Amino acid sequence: MALRPEVGTQPQFRKRKPPATYRYDSSLSPSLEWDGKNSVRELGEWLLVCIEDAAKLPPPHEFAEPSVFRDEAGHRVAECRGLRDAVDQLKRLGRPFLNWAGKAERLSFEVPTLPLFVHERLSTMAIVETLKAHTKQARDAQLGMFELFGDPQRPITDQVLKAYEYRDEWVNRMILGDSLVVMNSLLHYEGLGGQVQMIYIDPPYGVKFGVNFQPLVRKRDVAHNDDADMTREPEMVKAYRDTWELGLHSYLTYLRDRLLLARDLLHQSGSIFVQISDDNVHTVRDLLDEVFGPENFCQIISFRKTGGQSSSLLASISDYLLMYARDKDHLKYRQLFLEKVPGQEGATNYTWIEEQNGNRRALTAEEKRHWAIPASSKIFQAYPLFSEGKSPTDAPFVWNGGTYEPAGNNHWKTTAQGLARLTALDRLIAQGETLRFINYLSDYPVTPLTNNWSDTQISGYGDKKPYVVWTLPKVIVRCVLMTTDPGDLVLDPTCGSGTTAYVAEQWGRRWITIDTSRVPLALARQRILTATFPYYALKDETRGPSSGFLYLRKQNRKGEEVGGIVPHITLGSLAHDEPAEQEVLVDRPEVTEGITRVAGPFCVEATIPTPVDWDGEGGSEHDDGADDYGSYLDRMLDVLRRAPVLQLGGGNTVTLKNIRPPAKSLELSAEAMVENGSEHPVAVVFGPENGAVSERSVYEAGREAYAKSYVHLYVIGFAIQPNARRLIEECESAVGIPATWVAATPDLMMGDLLKTMRSSQIFSVCGLPDIRFKKLPQAAGDPVQYEVTMRGLDVFDPITMTPSHIRGDDVPAWLLDTDYNGLVFHGSQVFFPRTGAWDNLKKALKATHDESVWEHLAGTVSAPFEGGLHGQIAVKVIDDRGNELIVVKSLAEAE
Ligand SMILES: C[S@@+](CC[C@H](N)C(=O)[O-])C[C@H]1O[C@@H](n2cnc3c(N)ncnc32)[C@H](O)[C@@H]1O
Repeated sequence: MALRPEVGTQPQFRKRKPPATYRYDSSLSPSLEWDGKNSVRELGEWLLVCIEDAAKLPPPHEFAEPSVFRDEAGHRVAECRGLRDAVDQLKRLGRPFLNWAGKAERLSFEVPTLPLFVHERLSTMAIVETLKAHTKQARDAQLGMFELFGDPQRPITDQVLKAYEYRDEWVNRMILGDSLVVMNSLLHYEGLGGQVQMIYIDPPYGVKFGVNFQPLVRKRDVAHNDDADMTREPEMVKAYRDTWELGLHSYLTYLRDRLLLARDLLHQSGSIFVQISDDNVHTVRDLLDEVFGPENFCQIISFRKTGGQSSSLLASISDYLLMYARDKDHLKYRQLFLEKVPGQEGATNYTWIEEQNGNRRALTAEEKRHWAIPASSKIFQAYPLFSEGKSPTDAPFVWNGGTYEPAGNNHWKTTAQGLARLTALDRLIAQGETLRFINYLSDYPVTPLTNNWSDTQISGYGDKKPYVVWTLPKVIVRCVLMTTDPGDLVLDPTCGSGTTAYVAEQWGRRWITIDTSRVPLALARQRILTATFPYYALKDETRGPSSGFLYLRKQNRKGEEVGGIVPHITLGSLAHDEPAEQEVLVDRPEVTEGITRVAGPFCVEATIPTPVDWDGEGGSEHDDGADDYGSYLDRMLDVLRRAPVLQLGGGNTVTLKNIRPPAKSLELSAEAMVENGSEHPVAVVFGPENGAVSERSVYEAGREAYAKSYVHLYVIGFAIQPNARRLIEECESAVGIPATWVAATPDLMMGDLLKTMRSSQIFSVCGLPDIRFKKLPQAAGDPVQYEVTMRGLDVFDPITMTPSHIRGDDVPAWLLDTDYNGLVFHGSQVFFPRTGAWDNLKKALKATHDESVWEHLAGTVSAPFEGGLHGQIAVKVIDDRGNELIVVKSLAEAE
């Protein structure tokens, strides 16, 4: 496994890896014109030369070395192995294909290859463990009641609370960043190519460009606003967005690039599911054909979504999953089954009944209407005993006084001996002239799942739905169970509220999930952290989930199959006296009662790493792309000109005007005037494209701005290191000029594809967590204990320098690291004020944990804690827009 650095260890990563270049097969390029401006004509002519050359060779007409075709820039466009290959490629040039604006110009694209940095480590087990001082056991221990609880050395939580552990200490991963960049990092920084078993991708559906996102962590009622609505709500940050410059054309480019990288990540036996609506199912299937090859198409699944869209035509009630294999010949596939329910899919032929007294008869029309069948009777189907085609050896069969033979052009399904055995087993029934086999529903109580999922409607959503564009877990559960085994790796590059991660966690699969937006990641983090699951027994506890789950055959008192293994008794197995086959129901593993399982540890990562000191001596990072960096600065400047309104929270804004690059600047990116502000210009500095703003960058920029008599410094970036953040707050006293941190939405990094966003939503200023950090009164001899109170969030107005305030119990989440190492944030206590987020766990641990534990975790005061080795704590607040704000305090600062 490649190095995954902790954030803060950036200096080692100053030399970036070169960007990776991905190429498309030019024979699929969109123009069929042989004199077009792309290279199709030359390619065709080159293939003809290949054919001539190869034809001169002896069979099989193959070249010793593949012949290579390059474009004018020297890029490798195609290669040819010999005659057959050349003919195939030539034929492909004439095939119909999906074309869109920009496709022809995009025969290759580059993606920066960046390391992923671990920013935060979280573990539900660790959080509960931290609070063990509040367990009933601990309290009883204080009262001297130890013995009651067995081994006092062992925390009681161990006995009831578990998480799956993976070998090699694998930790699941939630990654902030653009899926293209992150997948490229997984491929080329970490060498994860070929290691992912299944990819679930639920991209924006590519409809209503410019709408449809969830702006705030706790606001779920935004569905399909239009742009006009958004201007009236300038506070919204676009956490979910379908805004694309060329509409569907941009969308197709966006999706194809991502599918290409997804394919490289998949194991040879792996598969991908793409969730899409009927608007674009056809174009996306074309894309998948192009990237995966039509031969690897597996299935299109229609699944029922919420209700019906009102329509003057047929109501639309389904969304679709397009399933492709990396290589269909090697696909890992586990058949799923549904329980047979008389009268429903897979069980419509069970129209006979065997009553308790042995009497057999057809169900009455009334019985079939409601499928009300007496409990003590058995349902069966009268199954044909012959198949098509005459057999010369067939003989009439005498049964129960009558003589039967296959009618017309048919033959017996089994031998005379087999028929005799079925007679002995009392498995035959006459229906008029025809003899039939009695096939009880219980012989095979399940039916294979088909590609029509009508049982996936989201009912009673609203409060239960964690995210506007949430996928019903059942849908993803099926995809996971069909294509992976416990311990396999599942990837979702469109995390949203983390349904795939949640489902993977539940089913003991390892997971990686990616999202560009912080709001969904904040929701996903809370969802995973506070989830509880059944404990599925493992075949081998020491080997973890990859040893597989345990499945048993079990029947309830009524004789119904309720275990994970069910019989599959067939006419053949009975007639030939062979042991019946069995089916494993992978969704019904054995559950160990009495254990609450929580999510295993996971980390939050980002591509945001290297605090680049732009220009100046640290410029070596740009060796590989100085031009790119220039264009990045130009782009940011352009964005700032078009979107000069900086959102400061609390409805406050600052509008910049006359924005221009400063003359002869070392560190600064722009200067501007503030509308209705001072008569003197302010300075602006942009943070790096793929990095966090460093303390040194702020310092240098601050010094230059001060020296040049600017009145204020705005530091605009995608991420910032805690120390740099602190310096900004103290900039006036430390450097002599006040400074303000302005967080730019990561969507800006998506480059040209995205339409310019509504200007007011591009930059927003974040504040600092306002905490109280105090020492608790200490009894002689006891260790010092501390407590943190979350008082709220201060958002600064940099013009007036007045803060506005969000109350502590009004932040969606806050986290405490009681021993912050300056690099990675370890969430030792995690709070979701005024919510029932921890309720599941609270219920599960009712017997062992005091109520007060959960009061802490739903409030604004931490549980008491001891200081750690690093002598400092960190408090992180997640604001309503998913922004993360960190404050660091040394133990010495405690009141
Ligand atoms: C339709 S939602 C997924 C919802 C998810 N299935 C669930 O159950 O919550 C799509 C998500 O993809 C994210 N997204 C869109 N473009 C992205 C990109 N280029 N990279 C990473 N995430 C992206 C959006 O922020 C959004 O959260």
